[in-house]
Amino acid sequence: MMSPPPAELPAPSTSSAEPPDNWTFRVDALTKRFGALAANDCITLRVEPGEVYGLLGPNGAGKSTLVKQTIGLLKPTSGRITLGRFDLVADPDAARQLCSYLPQVQMPIDSFRVSEAIELAGRIRGGSAKDVRVRTASLIDALDLGEWKNALGHSLSGGVRRLVGFCMAIVRPGRVVILDEPTNDVDPLRRRLLWEEIRALGAHGCAVLLVTHNVLEAEKSVDRLAVIHKGRLVAEGTPSSMKAADRSQLRLQLMLTPGTTTPDLPPWAGPPVRVGNNLVTTIAETDASTAITWAAQMTNAGVAEEYALAAMTLEDAYIRLTSHMSEDGDDEGG
Ligand SMILES: Nc1ncnc2c1ncn2[C@@H]1O[C@H](COP(=O)(O)OP(=O)(O)O)[C@@H](O)[C@H]1O
Ligand SMILES: [Mg+2]
Repeated sequence: MMSPPPAELPAPSTSSAEPPDNWTFRVDALTKRFGALAANDCITLRVEPGEVYGLLGPNGAGKSTLVKQTIGLLKPTSGRITLGRFDLVADPDAARQLCSYLPQVQMPIDSFRVSEAIELAGRIRGGSAKDVRVRTASLIDALDLGEWKNALGHSLSGGVRRLVGFCMAIVRPGRVVILDEPTNDVDPLRRRLLWEEIRALGAHGCAVLLVTHNVLEAEKSVDRLAVIHKGRLVAEGTPSSMKAADRSQLRLQLMLTPGTTTPDLPPWAGPPVRVGNNLVTTIAETDASTAITWAAQMTNAGVAEEYALAAMTLEDAYIRLTSHMSEDGDDEGG
């Protein structure tokens, strides 16, 4: 099956003028404590209408905690969440009307057929029977779910359930669309279709707040993103501005021979990050030829099976921000 190319990314909104209707979504100094743990520690961010904003961070960083507070599932310890003139914490009814939400956990749709579940979600959100039917059919088409449209929820795979949950969340999108790990378990082809629908929500004027683990997809698909680590927002910007600090750097990757200890790195290499047998370090562009000579020696000596030297990715910036900090438990990575 041929898949259409990813939708073109619209330029992020750069206008500083307030829109006539102010629908900016704002989180201000948000803190949520569970006993001694600050699951969210003074987080401030904003998402403009039409913007797709990614929230990245390792497991336990506090991403789901943040999004649950935006729709009244958890009460903040302190701080504010507003959408234009609406205080979403003080007015959870408004929050639920104005925000659409795909939770990280799967929806209980066992005894519903796929198209029924989506239409029902649209009717609950106040859509007319006809509008909801038309929109459901077009979502089922757009995400290539036709073969399951009459299937019962309990018979669906995790990925298809995820996509159905996504359709339920966006059949009648609110001003803010909050998606907690929407691409989990979804196959690569439909993941691409899903990202196109997410971009379409932005084009439609929704502010999209999207939690994801998938840094590479986020790099291609979000206008701005934030990295959250241990409850704190440690970096924020466009995907390319997040990489700016790495501009004159290259990533050197060694696939270590299984069982070898991490080799001592030469002084021109940055701190190593090892995941399994994959060792990544950063080097200055000017050290490229020295690095290749060294990496080839490592390979000849049997320490590594292969090596690669490449441009830095958003994932490298992300790993630098989050792994650096988990070692010393402080915020100097931000
Ligand atoms: N209801 C709760 N009670 C106590 N601790 C919680 C609760 N919910 C989340 N936490 C803790 O808060 C931290 C952040 O969790 P969460 O927001 O789910 O992280 P993420 O979605 O980024 O993986 C974790 O340490 C988690 O164990
Ligand atoms: Mg989560």
